[in-house]
Parts: sequence; structure tokens; C-alpha cells
Amino acid sequence: MVLNHISTVLRQARLTFTSSSETFRSNLEILKHLLDKTTAADVNLHPQFMTESLWMKPDKAPVTYIGIYENELLTMGIFILSPDMKLPLHDHPQMYGLIKVLFGKIKVTSFTVSDDPSSIYSNDPPLNFKAEKHPDEFMETVTTTCVLDPKQRNIHEIESVEGPAAFLDILSPPYCSRENPNNTRKCTYFKVLEHLGGNVFRLNEINPPNWYWNDTYLYEGPQVVQQKSLV
Ligand SMILES: [Fe+2]
Repeated sequence: MVLNHISTVLRQARLTFTSSSETFRSNLEILKHLLDKTTAADVNLHPQFMTESLWMKPDKAPVTYIGIYENELLTMGIFILSPDMKLPLHDHPQMYGLIKVLFGKIKVTSFTVSDDPSSIYSNDPPLNFKAEKHPDEFMETVTTTCVLDPKQRNIHEIESVEGPAAFLDILSPPYCSRENPNNTRKCTYFKVLEHLGGNVFRLNEINPPNWYWNDTYLYEGPQVVQQKSLV
């Protein structure tokens, strides 16, 4: 059977995140390569999201999430940001994340925790730690896939630039959710507390910002085919 592109991406993601340590890196490279070629047409993203008029409607959430697939292994979905909006600075505890822009332009600001994350996360909240800032990365549809891992660039903020923007997001393992109630990974938000010099900053845990919320739309792209034999 010939799979549609998004099903091929999902198949490779499932393969990657169930790989042995010997094959993980090569499978991740294949996944990145498939994502590099992924476009808004592959997920049939509705053109309304690319118009500014949608985002000016009263009561429209500033961010839309379209879930494509979720199980205990991974989450795959689409985030769409209104103009001049951002996903607040947040973490992905012990997770991998892949980002591919589908339309528009985004700015990714990311940090790597300076110390061993496992020791930091055992502290009582609010979390407070040093982190090294990476150069800002501007991404468009032609930009290759951005990857964060359990250590490198694990904390990030994603901002729309010059209009609305959408990106495909794969996370593994997933955050805790209704579909994954036994999963303890929660999303924590941060603010930059102070600049310690060079590219080193002190980050401090905060409550979820009240200016950020999202609505959800149904996925209307090609049916995602699951191949259970792979997992
Ligand atoms: Fe994220």
C-alpha cells in the first residue's frame, strides 16, 4: 500500500522513537528529512488560518492546535499562531521535539539547561536555574526541521513573525494528557529572571501566562494510517 506523506512521517516517527540506541540517530535523520519535505498541503491546512481576518475575530483564541495523532509514544499536531503571538517559554522534560514550519515565519528562542536537568527537576518549585541561550533561529517553510532533545535546546519560545504562522510539531514521549493520564511529564513555563553574562541567563518558573490560550480545530488532512506492526 502506498502511504500518503503524513502517514509516512508518522510511520518513521514511530520507528524512530521505538529504535534501539544503535539505530536511533539514523532513524531520527530519516524522520528529519521527511519533515523537511512536509508542506501545508500534506496536512490539507485550511487557507483561513493564513488570513489575518480570522485572527481579528472577537473571541478567537490567539493560538490554534490541530491534533493529528497521539498515543503513549508520541504526539503529532499543528500549532498555528496569530500575528505577533508566541508560545511562552516552556520546557519538554526528558522529551524530543521536532518543528517544521508549514506556512509563515517563526522565531525560535531556545535554552539549554546548564546543569544536569535530572538534578534540577528534583528541586521544589518554583524551579530556578542557569541556562545557556542559543542564537535566535528564524524559520520559514524552506528551513530544515528544528530538533530539540532531552538536554539540548529543551526550553524554548516560539513566536510568529510578520503575520500568522503554522508549524508541525512532533513530541516524544508526550506530555501528560487526557489520552496519557499515566504520564507525569508536565509543561512548565518560565521567564528570564536575569542575564548572568555572555549567553548565560537565570530562568525562573512562572504560572501559565494569562495572555496565552488556544482553541482546537479538527484535523482535515489525509487519513493517518496506523501500522500497528511497527510498534
Ligand atoms: Fe515546545
